[in-house]
Amino acid sequence: MSKERGHPGDAARRVQNAVLRKVVETMDPKSKNIVFHQGTVTREDREQRLGQRGCVLWFTGLSGSGKSTIAHAVELRLFQLGHLCQVLDGDNIRHGLCRDLGFGATDRTENIRRIAEVAKLSTEAGLVVSTAFISPFRADRDQARTVIGSERFLEVFLDVPVDECERRDPKGLYAKVRRGEIPEFTGISSPYEAPVSPELTIPTAGMSIDESVDQVVAYLQGRGFLSSPGRESER
Ligand SMILES: Nc1ncnc2c1ncn2[C@@H]1O[C@H](COP(=O)(O)OP(=O)(O)OP(=O)(O)O)[C@@H](O)[C@H]1O
Ligand SMILES: [Mg+2]
Repeated sequence: MSKERGHPGDAARRVQNAVLRKVVETMDPKSKNIVFHQGTVTREDREQRLGQRGCVLWFTGLSGSGKSTIAHAVELRLFQLGHLCQVLDGDNIRHGLCRDLGFGATDRTENIRRIAEVAKLSTEAGLVVSTAFISPFRADRDQARTVIGSERFLEVFLDVPVDECERRDPKGLYAKVRRGEIPEFTGISSPYEAPVSPELTIPTAGMSIDESVDQVVAYLQGRGFLSSPGRESER
């Protein structure tokens, strides 16, 4: 199956998404009686305290490509180095903030919009945020990049063939899809649009979790997001 084409209704979905995004982009707050309050402690103050720069590692890839596994492993590695991180993980968020959303194209777009706004707030607190969502639509990820700010948005593509993801099937979802129990499953019956120029591509097939984490951490260090080795190691 092509990663980019091949599903009936793709064109209609793209149009629907484009319209929805336009609405969201141009949407003013509902109330006219709200005024932005500028805080006194700045993001830079918080970043200096933490010895890191706030950013978002936006993991994207098929179900089973390793988003949750690597996001949490990166968090652990960085935490052990004395950094402060946060993981926003698909299923967890759908238990709360996004519990009202399903997996249709419009709900997927709204899901990503909310995550991007939450991730942005966390980067303003100085955190290294990892998001672990399939986020199959390129335009939604681009929208997240716009919301968060391109210089802090690091798209990490876990490039794993669907066959390998199905072989792993850590949640038994592919088996359910094959039994016809899940409609609109990304990579099978719903499209996945691979990133065009992600900051980082990790083909996790045939790679250990540690090696994948090494790549992410090296990238963050290379880009200067981890400005000190971490507070713990300074003690
Ligand atoms: N190098 C690797 N990196 C990450 N995961 C790997 C790697 N090698 C094998 N795996 C395995 O692949 C599986 C990835 O599952 P995981 O739940 O992290 O995927 P996911 O992308 O979060 O899926 P979903 O979108 O359904 O939440 C795990 O069982 C993990 O142990
Ligand atoms: Mg996951």
